[in-house]
Amino acid sequence: MNERPNALLNIGDKTVELPRTNASIGNDGIGVSRLMADGGVVALDPGFTNTASCASAVTYIDGDAGILRYRGYPIEQLAKNSSFLEVAYLLIYGELPTQTQLENFVMRVKNHRLLHENFRAFFTAFPHRGHPMAILQAGVAGMATYYEDTLDPRDPAQLDTAAVLLLAKLPTMISYIAKRAAGLPLTYPDAQRGYTEDFIQMTFGMPYQSHDIDPALVRALDMLLILHADHEQNCSTSTVRLVGSSQANLYASVAAGVGALAGPLHGGANEAVLRMLHQIRDTGDPVQVFVDKVKSKAEGVRLMGFGHRVYKNYDPRAAIVKETAHDVLSRLGKRDELLDIAMELEAIALSDDYFKERKLYPNVDFYTGLIYSAMGFTTKLFTPLFALGRLPGWIAQYVEMTKDPATKIGRPRQVYVGEVERDYVPLSRR
Ligand code: ACO
Repeated sequence: MNERPNALLNIGDKTVELPRTNASIGNDGIGVSRLMADGGVVALDPGFTNTASCASAVTYIDGDAGILRYRGYPIEQLAKNSSFLEVAYLLIYGELPTQTQLENFVMRVKNHRLLHENFRAFFTAFPHRGHPMAILQAGVAGMATYYEDTLDPRDPAQLDTAAVLLLAKLPTMISYIAKRAAGLPLTYPDAQRGYTEDFIQMTFGMPYQSHDIDPALVRALDMLLILHADHEQNCSTSTVRLVGSSQANLYASVAAGVGALAGPLHGGANEAVLRMLHQIRDTGDPVQVFVDKVKSKAEGVRLMGFGHRVYKNYDPRAAIVKETAHDVLSRLGKRDELLDIAMELEAIALSDDYFKERKLYPNVDFYTGLIYSAMGFTTKLFTPLFALGRLPGWIAQYVEMTKDPATKIGRPRQVYVGEVERDYVPLSRR
């Protein structure tokens, strides 16, 4: 690789040399760790819009070109040819598995799908209406109490077991949360079924009924999970890394990621999109009226499922999801008016200067909710589905962090702008 020069920064009469980390593709990094010691200042970057928190070999995104690659493999190829567990293996271990490696990995995950019987009771302790993401976050954190011999992130074998346990048990947990919300009996995992098929079975199947599942729908859901599997240093992944940087165990770190993902500006957007489409339909107003409201910024209304911090061109995942939405809805005979509203919204927004100037395009969440809804998932389950998809990415990034000798506990600085010093005033004089 060509030697590229370090950066020189003038601060008053001092010149500080900032070391450069070469990227294999994309932006190089300029190290600012010595800014305070050598220049007496700190780097200020709210929202980390221009700050790399780590060097990573997991996922590459080029937001302008609409490129997403896991370990170098284009998302389009993985979505078309791979399976969710194969992609999980790729993300976590760095290479596509051989046949034997994949079989062993799938078998390990399969063997751990059951939840401890006492743990099943945990899901009955929350109100039926409680948001599944809150219950999931608590459930993931609670795993640390059942598997105490898998908590040390410095022990690769323990960490690997924790990763497999999380992958194995998350679908079971989500399906239990769904069943509890509906007041239906919990269904045990079925070793005869594949990972995604069994998740559908546990979520919708009944203990006393056989449930035929359309393989095309299993494949569509598996593919959606692949599309969500990693997205480099997004909000939830950065949260997982930050929590993990204190050597908190994988369950605690992933639970924190679930919390971050629940926010409407992140994973919660898929729910918000469907609420928005319902709202537009229920008002009966032309779609343009809603778009005008968004543009006026009147009530702080945003076009949910549009815009992305990194993609300033079409989100490559959104293109695949849009196609899948058409396939799934027509397969289920559910070509519905919400899809029509979504397509009209997209068409108007893509030709409107407000959105063009700000480079706002549909993101992965714009069409996923429609597919999940057609498959029978309630709106509140959309973000847990995102969490299930993102799990391999959280694990892969956590594992990478634990192996990276440059890792330090995450502890940002601040620029203090408050009162300098003042004397305490007794209550009677205030
Ligand atoms: N609708 C309308 N206007 C928008 C939207 C939107 N969805 N997104 C951004 N804008 C506007 C902002 O008002 C701002 O306008 P201004 O320059 O006139 O002030 C400009 O575009 C830039 O917006 P920022 O908020 O600065 O962009 P940022 O990169 O910080 O935010 C985000 C990205 C949070 C995704 C934003 O686009 C958004 O809120 N989108 C809707 C929520 C959503 O779909 N989130 C899912 C993200 S993808 C994921 O997590 C899988």
